[in-house]
Amino acid sequence: MENSFEIRRPDDWHLHLRDGAMLEGVLPESARDFARAIIMPNLVPPVVTAKDARAYRDRILSALPEGMAFEPLMTLYLTEETDPADVAQAAASGLIKAVKLYPAGATTNSHSGVRNFDKVMPVLEKMAGIGLPLCTHGEVTTAEVDIFDREAAFIDTVLDPLRRRLPGLRVVMEHITTEEGVAYAAEGGETLAATITTHHLIINRNHILVGGIKPHYYCLPVAKREKHRQALRRAATSGSPRYFLGTDSAPHTDALKEHACGCAGCFTATNTMPLLAHVFEEENALDRLEAFTSLNGPAFYRLPVNEAKLRLVKGAAPTAFPEKIETGAGPVTVFNPGFPVLWSVES
Ligand code: DOR
Ligand code: ZN
Repeated sequence: MENSFEIRRPDDWHLHLRDGAMLEGVLPESARDFARAIIMPNLVPPVVTAKDARAYRDRILSALPEGMAFEPLMTLYLTEETDPADVAQAAASGLIKAVKLYPAGATTNSHSGVRNFDKVMPVLEKMAGIGLPLCTHGEVTTAEVDIFDREAAFIDTVLDPLRRRLPGLRVVMEHITTEEGVAYAAEGGETLAATITTHHLIINRNHILVGGIKPHYYCLPVAKREKHRQALRRAATSGSPRYFLGTDSAPHTDALKEHACGCAGCFTATNTMPLLAHVFEEENALDRLEAFTSLNGPAFYRLPVNEAKLRLVKGAAPTAFPEKIETGAGPVTVFNPGFPVLWSVES
């Protein structure tokens, strides 16, 4: 296992591909290493109905370069007007694999999200009945709650009450960033799982704020203090089936990141697998990387694992990742881990 090893081809259980020129620019970055990805529906306007999801799926597949294989796993954006029958049909046909909950106002393009849970109970009850997972952006949006406390508050005031109200609902806590998130996912049993991003395994809040503000490290949920990063590392490398990779790779153009009101999102599609190999090696857990990236996700989503393989190779010199990728929408800065990485994906 030392300097080269093979794993089943990974999947990304939380990805933003956007649309149009940005989609064209970023899609190859994911398709190069990943077989499938759960595609976030927070477009403008959002992907709300099965019809929207089918059209978006077609646009993704049309943007895929010749010779690349990639399966977009579609999601619907939960609104207070979502029709349970439309969701059930979309799931039965195989078109969608999850529904996404954004509390209204939580993050980029989340204004159409949920304010009153009573209004979405019929959809959630239908989803519990058919076993369709609810992906949650787990942050409260109340102005009084400090941004660093919003995940823990969501668990206590929204997620736990919801799961008690509807114990059959299958839930993915997306991009957890705290030890509270790790602990809650650990205790949730078979109906609960959590995704962890690459960047939250690498940065804490100092990376964003010390020595000048670093907009390319700003994302939501925002990176927390070091003890939380350590808890995330223990969870990701534990081999527990409760945790799997969702990169939340979220491209924004440099102009919108380097801005007085910069957008949230780290773009990690390009270098995620080498960075994860680095992190897992640091944690003496290279033998658990495959569980995190390629086995635990399909098990939760009740999908087959990928048959194709991916080889990671450790070289003598640092891998040169591109600083930016050029898209028709503008340049997008690739997440910089801030340390040399010797791993690369064999092409
Ligand atoms: O950092 C983030 N960027 N977090 C999100 O939840 C949304 C995402 C985006 O769409 O840019
Ligand atoms: Zn996201």
